[in-house]
Amino acid sequence: MKRGEKIVFAVIAVVVLILMGRNLWNVESDHEADKGIPYYSTASADLTRDAMDVYRKQSCKSCHSLWTVRNMLDNVPAPILDGLGSLHSEEWFFQYFSSANPQTILPSRLKQEFRMPSYAQLPENERHLLASYMASLKVKDWYLEETRKAEYEKLTGKEYRP
Ligand code: HEC
Repeated sequence: MKRGEKIVFAVIAVVVLILMGRNLWNVESDHEADKGIPYYSTASADLTRDAMDVYRKQSCKSCHSLWTVRNMLDNVPAPILDGLGSLHSEEWFFQYFSSANPQTILPSRLKQEFRMPSYAQLPENERHLLASYMASLKVKDWYLEETRKAEYEKLTGKEYRP
């Protein structure tokens, strides 16, 4: 091989290596950007079905969104329910749904008609169904802080500063 050819080969090799390296790097950073949906539920199919029956009958979705489903006509600034099971325990949800005045547990900044209603009148087993389903709504760790922030901002109307 002549000296000139060697140099040309060397240059091509370097360019190819750089391109391959860049592709690899892009694959890695795409991975970072696209982590997928952060919400999941640990509930069984039975629990999901029974709890969602109560959820529908009580029209929770006229105020809340869950799995991105909500009534677009109503525009209540109620917290998004996705991932809330990473913020509260099942006992907490049960107490909250059973309270005659849920605002003693979570203060409200809204007018009476938009506030979380009391579900103390619901049969106990339905409150349990809702509580265990809500507790099953988890968020992956990398999105936990975002979920906290969204909850805080809905509840207080203020900007979240950790
Ligand atoms: C009239 C609108 C309305 C309806 C109907 C409603 N909620 Fe709420 N809910 C709210 C609001 C608003 C809040 C935030 C606290 C407040 O302002 O009273 C809230 C808070 C909550 C919270 C606590 C959220 C947090 O950030 O910790 C849970 C859980 C919840 N609701 C579940 C439900 C379920 C389950 C149903 C149906 C059985 C339901 N809600 C029905 C308006 C509503």
